[in-house]
Amino acid sequence: MHLLLLGRGKTGSLVKEVAQERGHRVDVLGAKENPHASALTSDRLAHIEVVIDFTTPHSVLDNIEACIRAHKNMVVGTTGWYGELPRIRQMVEQAGTGLLYAANFSIGVNLFFDIARAAAAAPGHGYLGQIFERHHAHKKDAPSGTAVQLQRIVREVCGTDLEVTSFREGEVVGMHELVLDSPVDTIYLCHDAKSRRGFAEGAVRAAEWLAGRKGFFDFKDIWRSLPAK
Ligand SMILES: NC(=O)c1ccc[n+]([C@@H]2O[C@H](COP(=O)([O-])OP(=O)(O)OC[C@H]3O[C@@H](n4cnc5c(N)ncnc54)[C@H](OP(=O)(O)O)[C@@H]3O)[C@@H](O)[C@H]2O)c1
Repeated sequence: MHLLLLGRGKTGSLVKEVAQERGHRVDVLGAKENPHASALTSDRLAHIEVVIDFTTPHSVLDNIEACIRAHKNMVVGTTGWYGELPRIRQMVEQAGTGLLYAANFSIGVNLFFDIARAAAAAPGHGYLGQIFERHHAHKKDAPSGTAVQLQRIVREVCGTDLEVTSFREGEVVGMHELVLDSPVDTIYLCHDAKSRRGFAEGAVRAAEWLAGRKGFFDFKDIWRSLPAK
């Protein structure tokens, strides 16, 4: 495939590496080449099959809207814009394009979500729950998109909104904990990312899945249907 990657930061640079390893041609645009999504014209995107965004909460919405206007399919890894999900879904559906987003493209985290869903019955049995998330000091949004998703999963199962505590320190790639505590025992569930490679592999496999598809998708709903690695 011919991909356009937005962002050559910590995650974007790995996405480029993984995409090239998987045989894709990858163009890359950074902040200076794409202010307010100005580079994302129909002409520039004409030969691109999927755009992948790992930029910033500040620039992602301009990028998404420009890709929809140009009728281009898009994988969005950037977090911090989920208040706009209903509006963007409507735009994607009206335009008849494809958009796939994830708070976390790691297969391990998506398995962790399933485990959390099973454990989310606990507050209905007298457990008090808390969510903790740790990330590197440069992360721009808090709480993390992954922690918000974890909170949503628990709310969907038992109607309880758990408190999220965020820590920003050093170079932590991403750690999420769901702790459920009762007078007689404590359940600790933890996912600890060792590198950004899991995110990058998931995002590139998501782009391969999205090519030629129409609709608005959350990775947590489709990752099981990805072909074997
Ligand atoms: N969904 C997931 O699995 C997942 C995993 C990891 C991270 N993330 C999210 O992905 C985003 C990026 O994370 P990161 O750690 O890679 O951040 P980062 O290292 O700060 O990189 C962000 C990059 O975005 C570029 N950028 C900003 N505006 C742009 C624009 N208009 N067009 C093109 N590029 C633009 C910046 O370019 P310059 O360097 O030129 O300024 C920078 O290189 C964050 O929202 C993070 O939370 C998601």
